[in-house]
Parts: sequence; C-alpha cells; structure tokens
Amino acid sequence: MKNILVTGGCGFIGSNFLRLMCTKYPNYNFVNLDKLTYAGNLENLDGVNSANYFFEKVDICDSLKVKTVFEKYAIDTVINFAAESHVDRSIFGAFDFIQTNIVGTQILLENAKEFQVEKFLQISTDEVYGSLSDTGKFTETTPLHPNSTYSASKSSADLIALAYHHTFGLNVLITRCSNNYGPYQFPEKLIPLMIINALNNISLPIYGNGMNVRDWLYVEDHCLAIDSVLHIGKFGEVYNIGGNNEWRNIDIVKLILKKLNKPESLIAFVKDRLGHDFRYAIDSSKITNELNWKPIYDFENGISNTINWYLENKTWWKKIISGEYKNYYKLQYEKARS
Ligand code: NAD
Ligand code: DAU
Repeated sequence: MKNILVTGGCGFIGSNFLRLMCTKYPNYNFVNLDKLTYAGNLENLDGVNSANYFFEKVDICDSLKVKTVFEKYAIDTVINFAAESHVDRSIFGAFDFIQTNIVGTQILLENAKEFQVEKFLQISTDEVYGSLSDTGKFTETTPLHPNSTYSASKSSADLIALAYHHTFGLNVLITRCSNNYGPYQFPEKLIPLMIINALNNISLPIYGNGMNVRDWLYVEDHCLAIDSVLHIGKFGEVYNIGGNNEWRNIDIVKLILKKLNKPESLIAFVKDRLGHDFRYAIDSSKITNELNWKPIYDFENGISNTINWYLENKTWWKKIISGEYKNYYKLQYEKARS
C-alpha cells in the first residue's frame, strides 16, 4: 500500500482517521476525496500532517471525476467513509442516501476493480443488523435486518461490495461499528447535540422515553480498529467493532448534564423517532481474537475528553450551528414537539 484513497475524510470519523494515520504512516500518501456536504468541513483537518495529505473536492457519484483521481494518484487502496450518515435526515428524504451510500459505493468499487487496487475497505455500521430487545448482541452472522432507509442503504452497499469480492476477486473488507463519539462530531448527533444545548442552556430533546440503548465507542478506538482490519484483516470478511459499553439515552444525557454542572430540568421528552431502533449491542470477539484489537479508552475518559473538546472548540461548533444547521434544527425539533 502506498496511495490510499480516503472518501468522506472531512466528516467526523474520516477526519479523526486521517489525523491519526497521516502521522502514523509517513510513507503512505492519503488522498481525501470529499464532496463537502453539510457534514463535511475542511476545518476538521486543521493541523493534519501536510507532507503526505492531499484533498480533492469530488462527489463519489461523479464517476468521471472519481476515475481521474484514481489515475492522478495511482490509487492502490480505498477506504470508503463517505456517506449520508444521519438517521433523522433519512426520514426527511432518502434520495441522497440511496445515491451516495449505494450508487456512490458501486462507482468506487467499479474503479477499484478497473485499477486493480490491493484493498477496498467499506466502512459500514451495526445498524445493518436492525434492532435488539433487552438481550443478545450482534455477531457477524446475525442476519441483515435494516429498519431505516439509512441502514437499508448501508446494507445494500455491504452486499454489493461482497458481490465484487465473490464475482471479481476484489479484495474487499467490511467493518461494522457501533455508535461513535468524540471530537469533530457534527452537532446533529446525540452526544454533541446534548453537550452544545446544555452549554447554551436550551432544552435537551430526548426521543420517546429515553430508554433506547446504544453501544458507544470513542472515535480513536474505531480508527485503530480500521487500521488493524486494513493491515491484517482477511479479504471477504466482515468485522464487528464495538465498545462493550451500553448506555440508555436518558443516562448519557444525565451524565453530560452532571459533568457540565447543569440542571436536569433542561431535559425535554419529545415525540419519538419514526421506526426508532430500540437497542444496538456489538459482539466484537472476532476482531479481538483474530486481529488483537480492543478499545483503549474507557467511557469515563472518552466522554470527559469529548466534553472538554467541545468546551475548548466553541468557534468550531458555533460556526456550524449558526449556519444552515439552524433550519435543520427548527424543522427536526418542531416536528418532534408537535
Ligand atoms: P459524517 O456525516 O460526519 O461524514 C460524512 C462525510 O462524507 C462528510 O465529509 C461528507 O461531506 C462526505 N460525503 C457525503 N456524501 C458524499 C459524496 N457523495 N461524495 C463524497 N463525499 C461525501 O459521517 P461519520 O459519522 O463520519 O461516518 C463515516 C462513516 O462511518 C459512514 O459511512 C457511516 O455510515 C459510518 N459509521 C458511522 C458511525 C457513527 O457513529 N458516526 C458508526 C458506524 C459507522
Ligand atoms: O450505530 C451506528 C450508527 O450510530 C451510525 O451508523 C450512524 O451513522 C450514527 O448516526 C449513529 O446512529 P444513531 O441513530 O444511533 O445515532 P444518533 O446520535 O442520531 O442517536 C443516538 C440515540 O439518541 C438514538 O436512540 C436516538 C436518540 N436521540 C438522538 C437525537 C439526535 C435523541 O433521543 N434525541 C436527539 O435529539
């Protein structure tokens, strides 16, 4: 591997990945291909090692431009982070989800095949498995049962990627991770939204009764898992990645309020998300046993780092929440109140 194409590198996980990997692997070139949607932010890459980092503003659905990038940089490895990633937005409209998450992934796979890349790593999600009741965990053999158009589009992409492996021998790897949290996460997601609202003394909207459960993983741990799968994962395999760290939404929100010394009276229970998955929990024994990966951060450290980052980077999020995000927020949370 020499020339690695990282798509969606201006988003939350992609930017954390690039910041870590450009320094860790000075002999690799990292080409960040990103459309810069509402979720993509060039400021997320401030401070990245510039000697081996390149940026191309391109839509993964634009096959001609994608091809030009493969040629220009002699791409030999692809890591596909690019996606529409927010479930609530997929409820407003699925078009961009189908385009980017399915059509865009197929365009990348086709180029990867044509240019005979060494590896294609598809970044997927535990949401492809659907929802759990109070017990059990998702393993790699749990049947796919996506419930939102977001997770259905990610499931489709996984199946298409595996078909490229089976049919054409493309060296595909897939990771399915649980909920990430950490620096640079766009304010629409639960943890940054609650931190920012608490800092602004505005209400913290919890969907339904707050009993839904997610398995939270610090973003750097996800990036290190991707690093392991990229280097020593077996082609054609799926690897689940999780934090073994389940929290009910209400308990996370109360913890954030406590850490920020804010009153619980800021909590507002609002109308539930349509089709809201009850619980996600990941069994990551495969990646732990086979690739020797396990999380480094415990939740106490991870959440404190995250809260501190949002406290120290108010300029970053104030710019976001004062822009187009205001319209999204109004639409989403007025709907939730009605
Ligand atoms: P994000 O929404 O923060 O970032 C997505 C990035 O993709 C943005 O930079 C955006 O500009 C870019 N992008 C979107 N459409 C594009 C297109 N058509 N062409 C090129 N670039 C495009 O997402 P994230 O939270 O960083 O998630 C990254 C990946 O990880 C996604 O594939 C997501 O499904 C997966 N994932 C996320 C989580 C999580 O908790 N956030 C957990 C598991 C898996
Ligand atoms: O599990 C992995 C997935 O995690 C990723 O594939 C997705 O890209 C990522 O967005 C995330 O999906 P969720 O829907 O689980 O994350 P979100 O932060 O949107 O919501 C987490 C939980 O919090 C969920 O039960 C809904 C609830 N919630 C969320 C928001 C934004 C609220 O109660 N209120 C809110 O305002």
